[in-house]
Amino acid sequence: MKLHVPTLISRKREGEALDPAEIRLLVDGYTSGEIPDYQMSAFAMAVYFKGMNAVETAALTRAMLESGDVFEHPAGHPPVVDKHSTGGIGDKVSLILAPLVACTGVWVPMVSGRGLGITGGTLDKLESIPGFKVGISLAEAGTMLEKIGVVMMGQTDRFCPADKKLYALRDVTGTVPSIPLITASIMSKKLAESLDKLVLDVKFGSGAFMKTEADARVLADSMIAVGKEMGVEVHAILNPMAEPLGRAVGNSLEVVESLDCLEGGGPADLRQLVLDLAEKISPVPRVELEGMLDDGRARRKFDELVSAHGCNPADLPRLGDIHRAPLIREFPAPDTGTVVKVDAGIVGQAALQLGAGRARANDGVDHAVGFDQLVKCGEPIHQGHPLCRIHARTVVDFEIAEAMLGQAIVIEP
Ligand code: URA
Repeated sequence: MKLHVPTLISRKREGEALDPAEIRLLVDGYTSGEIPDYQMSAFAMAVYFKGMNAVETAALTRAMLESGDVFEHPAGHPPVVDKHSTGGIGDKVSLILAPLVACTGVWVPMVSGRGLGITGGTLDKLESIPGFKVGISLAEAGTMLEKIGVVMMGQTDRFCPADKKLYALRDVTGTVPSIPLITASIMSKKLAESLDKLVLDVKFGSGAFMKTEADARVLADSMIAVGKEMGVEVHAILNPMAEPLGRAVGNSLEVVESLDCLEGGGPADLRQLVLDLAEKISPVPRVELEGMLDDGRARRKFDELVSAHGCNPADLPRLGDIHRAPLIREFPAPDTGTVVKVDAGIVGQAALQLGAGRARANDGVDHAVGFDQLVKCGEPIHQGHPLCRIHARTVVDFEIAEAMLGQAIVIEP
């Protein structure tokens, strides 16, 4: 069958359901480079507006999953589990959860993405650790699983190549918040890990792609349906993303906060969400997971992980110095009262303005910039006391971020 791509795009634009065989040809053609970015962008925008039915979504997921190699775990392997988030602001859960859950004896082959839209990406955060190699082969990943039970990697030209290309394209073409595209992106990566169990953190609110709880439910059901069809036990937890998770937003700043959590500290909302998700895929009860955070086992596993990925764990405590932004200034509260809103969407936009995310597919990210010591909703604040610290490259960037935070944070007397 020969695909006439302009016709296919027009049919989707008119809301027609496509045949699984056509979707397969489209994905294969895009992965091989035969179908150019401009046609795939138009197709993604048509899907954004017209959606896909369950059969099309499953076909897209399968085609993306089979665009490359998949994990083949050796006979007698421990249970293989993972977690994925649909994306949020300050969401550094994966950095803590993967080593924590690996302490329980299961395998965690975590395949993540880069920053997408206003949300940060696990790979960008990990790469703020000097030398961290995310582009590893399946053979290398298999060796790490055997040795330490955990690996954190990205899509490659051999592993989920279709998602690698489409993910980067969606990031810069306004086509991220689409239920079938998110479903296929997440589930193709996760199913290629050959999992036994998966927990999904489905976010809703201003800092998430799904703005309402009802839409998040539809997205969760879509991912659960695809998982079921492919024989994987999938749990989904819906979580609000109205305010950022934790108190830090920005690549290296989030790694620093993750280290606190791995050492038994860190913000309460972050620790709680890590445990809520980890207990769904761990063979041990929550209280044991808490013990692994508190007694240093999870932190030691993180050291093993960064060593396996080519880094020196001795760099971790120095991360704040390695990525010190030229300008670090407090943002003072304009009034006294209680913080009633910290709008995650605006904070995410402000982090993008500072350079923490991308405007074009091949852009790098600035690992140093962002926010930390951010106030949380419900906290009392005094006029002149800091609402957060802004880490910026230039005075102009600082001023733009400050104006945006002024909109994001609401204080009531
Ligand atoms: N995470 C992914 O991996 N893909 C998406 O499309 C959104 C969040």
